[in-house]
Amino acid sequence: MDVRPFWLAGEPATGEDELTVTNPHDGRVAGAAAVPTSEQVERAVAAAHAVRRQAAGLSLHARAEALAHVSRRLAERAEEVARLISAENGKPILWARGEVARAVSTFRFAAEETRRFGGTAQRLDTEPAAEGRLAYVSRQPYGPVLAVTPFNFPLNLVAHKVAPAIAVGAPVIVKPAPATPLSALLLGEILAETGLPAGMFSVLPVPNDRAGALVDDPCLPVVSFTGSGPVGHAIRERVPHKHVTLELGGNAAAVVLADADLDHAAARVALFGNYQAGQSCIAVQRVIVERPVLAEFTRLLVAAVEALAVGDPADDKTQVGPLVSEEAARRVADWVAEAVAAGATVLTGGERDGATLAPTVLADVPAGAKVLAEEVFGPVLVLQPAGSVDEAFAAVNDSRYGLQAGVFTKDVATAFRAGKELEVGGVIIGDVPSYRADQMPYGGVKESGTGREGLRSAMEDYTYEKVMVLTGLTL
Ligand code: SIN
Repeated sequence: MDVRPFWLAGEPATGEDELTVTNPHDGRVAGAAAVPTSEQVERAVAAAHAVRRQAAGLSLHARAEALAHVSRRLAERAEEVARLISAENGKPILWARGEVARAVSTFRFAAEETRRFGGTAQRLDTEPAAEGRLAYVSRQPYGPVLAVTPFNFPLNLVAHKVAPAIAVGAPVIVKPAPATPLSALLLGEILAETGLPAGMFSVLPVPNDRAGALVDDPCLPVVSFTGSGPVGHAIRERVPHKHVTLELGGNAAAVVLADADLDHAAARVALFGNYQAGQSCIAVQRVIVERPVLAEFTRLLVAAVEALAVGDPADDKTQVGPLVSEEAARRVADWVAEAVAAGATVLTGGERDGATLAPTVLADVPAGAKVLAEEVFGPVLVLQPAGSVDEAFAAVNDSRYGLQAGVFTKDVATAFRAGKELEVGGVIIGDVPSYRADQMPYGGVKESGTGREGLRSAMEDYTYEKVMVLTGLTL
């Protein structure tokens, strides 16, 4: 079996250990990754620290060219990369291809934004005391970025941290999820073709229990984390003096109002409650439906869920595959059983087979049940009736989380109300909360996180504004 090298300061390397990655669908080996020793991790960090000034001084065209190269190479190798994502994560090939296409765009957007990252000039002679003075306002990187990435988008959520770092001239160290390190290592292979200075990137598949040393390291002033709430909050408490960006979870709601196109809403909710087996922070979880259309919508939703193609992720037609592990599927099934014991009704699904849980729709779920109040991260939809628009919006906001919400309505005034009143980072009108365009700001409020991704937003997040004042000028 081929063991993929990790990337230490831009060079392939092997350590003393290996990590075997298995496909959660059939348990077959998807590949293996070399694991760096602690000493190798320290060398990668030292290299990132050493190169930070050279990185910040790289010309915009050099950064943009490197990013454009990665975009092109991912496009050229798209099918191979999609197969790798699908094998290591269990994601149906349909969604894996979509993820690669998104990563191609993510790097392309970063290349384009880099060329617009030139700073601005501000005349200061608006006041008599500042005659002849001009401020040049630029953004400077805080320094090397530690990118801690999750298993659910093993390529594109790595891209969302690596691409803006390169764009702003910051070295980046990626610590991929132990379940899915292979796509990040393949990305390292492509990054190594770019001619970026040594130390500009490392990809270090260390186990989670060794990530603390990276988080603590003073040479990595920025920590960008995507993953679970408890881990994210622990990181922030651990390094309060660092610049920490957290993309955490959610229990995303879709609101179906009485004026909605019910066929469209049911099809979208069914698909995007179950895509990637519900393992997206913005997968639909809570479905809040106005009472006049509840019965009809429920009928359409259950039919649409039952029509989803569940099965082998390698099959082109499969829409719903396994969760990332049998343990994950068991946890979600336990949450469903707990809700049922507390009075919930299973309208469809609920059965588990290994790592696969049948797409599940629940009704009558009591408040406080984990499938409602926590992030389920599995293929489970919970129906909640609402007596009015006010009640529906209050139900959306009745959550510790606030990442994105979707509202199915044709009424413009209601759409604007949703945009104003829903306590989330993004409101999608006429579609599910699961919509993300990679160039737009993305992130949450409340316990869903702090900071924003999306290329321009992440570039701002990794940098601070710096002014240089020129004096004695004729303006
Ligand atoms: C996430 O799970 O937070 C990412 C969703 C996406 O990029 O579509």
